[in-house]
Amino acid sequence: MARDGFFTGLDIGTSSIKVLVAEHINGEMNVIGVSNAKSAGVKDGIIVDIEAAATAIKTAISQAEEKAGISIGLVNVGLPANLLQIEPTQGMIPVTSDSKEITDEDVENVVRSALTKSMTPDREVITFIPEEFVVDGFQGIRDPRGMMGIRLEMRGLLYTGPRTILHNLRKTVERAGVQLENVIISPLAMTKSILNEGEREFGASIIDMGGGQTTVASVKGQELQFTNIYQEGGDYVTKDISKVLKTSQKLAESLKFNYGEAYVPSAGSESFQVEVIGEIEPVEITESYLAEIISARIRHIFDQIKRDLDRRHLLELPGGIVIIGGAAILPGVVELAQEVFGVPVKLYVPNQIGIRNPAFAHVISLSEYAGNLTDVDMLAQIAVRGDEQLRHQPVSFERPAQSVPRFNSQPAEQPAEEPIQEVPAASSDVPNQEAKPSITDRMRNLIGNMFD
Ligand SMILES: Nc1ncnc2c1ncn2[C@@H]1O[C@H](COP(=O)(O)OP(=O)(O)OP(=O)(O)O)[C@@H](O)[C@H]1O
Ligand SMILES: [Mg+2]
Repeated sequence: MARDGFFTGLDIGTSSIKVLVAEHINGEMNVIGVSNAKSAGVKDGIIVDIEAAATAIKTAISQAEEKAGISIGLVNVGLPANLLQIEPTQGMIPVTSDSKEITDEDVENVVRSALTKSMTPDREVITFIPEEFVVDGFQGIRDPRGMMGIRLEMRGLLYTGPRTILHNLRKTVERAGVQLENVIISPLAMTKSILNEGEREFGASIIDMGGGQTTVASVKGQELQFTNIYQEGGDYVTKDISKVLKTSQKLAESLKFNYGEAYVPSAGSESFQVEVIGEIEPVEITESYLAEIISARIRHIFDQIKRDLDRRHLLELPGGIVIIGGAAILPGVVELAQEVFGVPVKLYVPNQIGIRNPAFAHVISLSEYAGNLTDVDMLAQIAVRGDEQLRHQPVSFERPAQSVPRFNSQPAEQPAEEPIQEVPAASSDVPNQEAKPSITDRMRNLIGNMFD
């Protein structure tokens, strides 16, 4: 059952940091504050400068606090799927209480018993998602508390990630002056919040087109089947425009916003003047030439995704593809995706007032996911957070000394080893959509309505 209360999502993106505070009441989610601040210290979705990222997060948090009129203490942060590993895991414990009635402690303990597998020192448990409990051989139980039994078993999925990435994330959030409520695996939150029940059952894929990276997540039978990150996004489109037209990145970004079209056949025939480095007079560029530059990069991203989805037969999923993310706002992205993938593609635009923008889909999903965690999920999280101690100690079935979730804050053994690529300074605000006298007007007006 969904929990009532305030849940704050924090999306630490390469281009911008997004914060969303929502009040959840009886399964309904009301957004009460949202912010979008320029990102810093993040490359390819990974924190590479704790101080810079913490300062940017602080700004985003205080903007959201101002809008929401409440102070934010806890945040639910999204973790990209970089180097994520998923393992089916099981645990078993004897129910030790005299009454043999299964309690919260038993649930924590059975999860803990599943976490004791040996792991290399560079990896850490991010989360554990219980799938099924078995009480004295009776299977398919979702919440065993209150039941009587002698033997409690559990099966679930264990998500682990690189220790350095997790450490940097925790440290950064701490420095920003807030506490981590949950680390949420982004593709899990996105597929739950953006796809409907039927799409999750029969299967569909989400493509999140960000500034520095593009994330893919495919789901079927309510379970994540595949997720991957491609280190290219909308900022690479801007860089391409800048390089090809020999113009500044600032101007390239504004050309993309105002004249950009990702599907060449839809590009207008008009032209515009561009100040080119090394030329005294501005150079005339046609919309279709700009569209060719844009579509080359996006097609390149889509081609890589197609190869991966094809190989796993995930393009056959009946739900097709749902696109989100700031880079998906570009007119023509859906048409280009349809051409490349050859399956139905739709753009997902959140429905809540003030955030009708595909770039906010991820942060909304984080708040929603946090509010929908069940009691059993929460107990599993408590068990996971005590896991750092347990890996160095014999397992005892006693309740952990502290019931408040605790995070490991050991120094990182090594700096992030992710390839660091140059990311242009990104615009901090949701851009104003200017009217443009071309075929892209229709689409642009639609996007303009997203920012009410
Ligand atoms: N109206 C628009 N038209 C075209 N591109 C846009 C528009 N609005 C935003 N973008 C692009 O979207 C990208 C940012 O998207 P988003 O906010 O989803 O990224 P992010 O979450 O910060 O980054 P990442 O997910 O890569 O870490 C930038 O490249 C930006 O230029
Ligand atoms: Mg993003």
